[in-house]
Amino acid sequence: MAKKIIAVMGATGAQGGGLVKAIMADKSGEFTARAITRDVNSDKAKALAALGAEVVAADIDNEESLKKAFAGAYGAYCVTFFWAHFSPEKEQANAGNMARAAKAAGVQHVIWSTLEDTRKWVPLSDNRMPTLQGKYKVPHFDAKGEINHVFTDAGLPVTFLNTSFYWDNAYMFGMGPAKQADGSYTITFPMGDKRMSGMACEDIGKCAYGIFKKGKEYIGKTVGIAGEHLTGAQMAEKYSKGLGINCKYNEVTPEAYRGFGFPGAEDLGNMFQVYRDFEKEFTAARSLDVSRSLNPELQTFDQWLAKNKSKLLPTVEVKGA
Ligand SMILES: NC(=O)c1ccc[n+]([C@@H]2O[C@H](COP(=O)([O-])OP(=O)(O)OC[C@H]3O[C@@H](n4cnc5c(N)ncnc54)[C@H](OP(=O)(O)O)[C@@H]3O)[C@@H](O)[C@H]2O)c1
Repeated sequence: MAKKIIAVMGATGAQGGGLVKAIMADKSGEFTARAITRDVNSDKAKALAALGAEVVAADIDNEESLKKAFAGAYGAYCVTFFWAHFSPEKEQANAGNMARAAKAAGVQHVIWSTLEDTRKWVPLSDNRMPTLQGKYKVPHFDAKGEINHVFTDAGLPVTFLNTSFYWDNAYMFGMGPAKQADGSYTITFPMGDKRMSGMACEDIGKCAYGIFKKGKEYIGKTVGIAGEHLTGAQMAEKYSKGLGINCKYNEVTPEAYRGFGFPGAEDLGNMFQVYRDFEKEFTAARSLDVSRSLNPELQTFDQWLAKNKSKLLPTVEVKGA
């Protein structure tokens, strides 16, 4: 019997890459992956083809290209790329492109990788944090949550997937242990003593695969996923043990974090503040049991750390150099 095709946006990236690999690793499964990329000749695209995935070209900014890429697919994994452009409006236009393409293709299950519109907790009138880009508190969250409706408005069978902070940001975006003058290390977050929902980024794709496999049960539902909910102090302790370093949690205020000056610092400062102030809501919306039921290989922080030690150690050493 022909396998059902899952068309995967961002297939050469963190979320989509995890999904393509999960689908192709399940040789006896009912699905196969169609990896969508702008460049079918890149090394990452070729690596996916080597796994047996069909690799096709499309651009999220081009609806017609998405229609072709989704044609004949049973399912579509839809994700946007905020950090490539920092534009909430572009993210929303991209979500619309994907929704219309999925509708035109008649896909039977869409997963939309989204996040909460934080303005339900922190309205624009709330001055605990600045309003950004005119009408957002956490632009890369709010824009996604605000546009959820394009999928339901189109009448699509959709699952809304609320993801979590990637632990992999440690080596991908310099959010891991940083060496101090005295040889010790710190991780810096404005989280107070509150827990943050995090996960190995590859587990997002694996959970998404679990949702596609369960099918109908998840259509029309919102699912939150995480690998573990940890405080900064707990993460620092785990880094210390796992990497054999002396790592402490450096708690800063959200205001200080917003002032760090790197691109997106204000957005992330606000995000961490919302995570901190609404810890109960965020963690309750991301059940570890549900995540594990979707992906039995779900990693804890310790497991992720052990698996990624070779990526983390050079970061630690380079920062200390
Ligand atoms: N970092 C976190 O902790 C975190 C947590 C939760 C959610 N998120 C969200 O995750 C989203 C990004 O997902 P990700 O981390 O999986 O992305 P990613 O690893 O940056 O990968 C994105 C992939 O998408 C492709 N891409 C970029 N622009 C494209 C375009 N115009 N058309 C088609 N494909 C394009 C690129 O592939 P090609 O170059 O091959 O085309 C790239 O490899 C963001 O919106 C972010 O807010 C991030």
